[in-house]
Amino acid sequence: MDSFKATTLRMPGLRADIAEHPGRFRVLTGERPTGRLHLGHYFGTIRERVHLQRAGVETFVILADYQVITDRATAGQVRENVHHAVLDYLAAGLDPRNTTIFTHSSVPALNQLMLPFLSLVTEAELHRNPTVKAELAASGRALSALLLSYPVHQAADILFCKGNLVPVGKDNLPHVELTRTIARRFNERYGPVFPEPEALITDAPELPGLDGRKMSKSYGNAISLGMSADETAAVIRGARTDDERVISYDPEGRPGVSGLLATAAVCLGRTPQSLADELGDAGSGALKKLATEAVNEFLAGHRRRRAELSALDAAAVLRAGNEHARAVAERTLEEVRHAMGMVY
Ligand code: TRP
Repeated sequence: MDSFKATTLRMPGLRADIAEHPGRFRVLTGERPTGRLHLGHYFGTIRERVHLQRAGVETFVILADYQVITDRATAGQVRENVHHAVLDYLAAGLDPRNTTIFTHSSVPALNQLMLPFLSLVTEAELHRNPTVKAELAASGRALSALLLSYPVHQAADILFCKGNLVPVGKDNLPHVELTRTIARRFNERYGPVFPEPEALITDAPELPGLDGRKMSKSYGNAISLGMSADETAAVIRGARTDDERVISYDPEGRPGVSGLLATAAVCLGRTPQSLADELGDAGSGALKKLATEAVNEFLAGHRRRRAELSALDAAAVLRAGNEHARAVAERTLEEVRHAMGMVY
C-alpha cells in the first residue's frame, strides 16, 4: 500500500484522537510566501488550522521565507507577501494567543538544526523525493543544493517545536515521511529528543482555479482572499467558458465551466453537480453571476475583518510570533547539543 493510502486510512482514527485529546498534539504547518493567499489555501489548509486551534490544539504556522528561494533566483515581494498572509490568517480566525505565526529567517536556532539533520539522510534519498523532482522539473533551472535539501529544512521546521501533527496537502507527504525518518534516526543515534510527526490530510478536495487547473497565482486563475468584491467580479468575468447554454459539471471536457461550478459550490456548501442541475440551460453568464455572488458573500466577513486590521497589527503579531519561536527553538537546540555531547 502506498503511503498516501495508508495515511488516508489513518485519518478517521487520528481525527477522533485529536478531538478527544487536543492537548497531546502540537501542530506545525505553513506555506511559502510566494504570493497572496487565495481561496484554494483557505479551503485546503487555513480553515483546518482555525478548526484545530478552536479544538484546543497548540498551533505553529511558519511563513517559510527561505523556502521561497528553493526554485527561483530571488525572494521577490516576500516582505509584502508575508504581511498579507498575516492579515489573512488573522481575518480567517487564527488567534495569536494560541497560534504562533513566524518566519524562517527570524529563527536562527531552527535553521541550525538543519546541520545535524543533513548528516542523517543520504544524497540518494533526497534525489528520490518525488516533490523535489517535480519542483525541479517545473523550475526549469539547475538543481540547487537548497532545492535538493529543502525537505530536510522542512524537517527542522516541524521538529524545532516538536510538532507532532502536520496538516499538509498530498504533495507535502514525502516531506512528513522524511521528517519521521530524521526524527527516528536522530533518536536512535543520540537518544530520544524528537516525536515522529503524523500528517493530517484535509478532507476538502483540491479546489480548481477558474480555468480548471490547480488554483495558483502563477496561472492567474486564483481568487485572492484579499481581493475586493469588484476585483473578484472582474476575474470571474474574465474566466474562460464556452458557448454551450446547458451548464454541466465535466472537469475534463469543460474545465472553465467546471472550475466556476466548483468555486461556487465550495462557497455555498453545495455540490457542483447540484448547481449545474439548477442552472440548466441558463448559460455561462448566469453561472458567472452565481459564482461571483457566492464568493463575495462567502468572503464578506473575511474582508471586513481584514480591513479592520492595520499594518501595525500584522507587524506586532509577527514580532511576538518570532520571539516565541526563537525561545522554543533555542530550547530544542540546547537539548540537541546535550544529546550530541556538544556542551562547552
Ligand atoms: N512546503 C510547504 C508548501 O509548499 C510549506 C512548508 C514549509 C511547510 N515548511 C513547512 C508545510 C512545514 C508544513 C510543515 O506549502
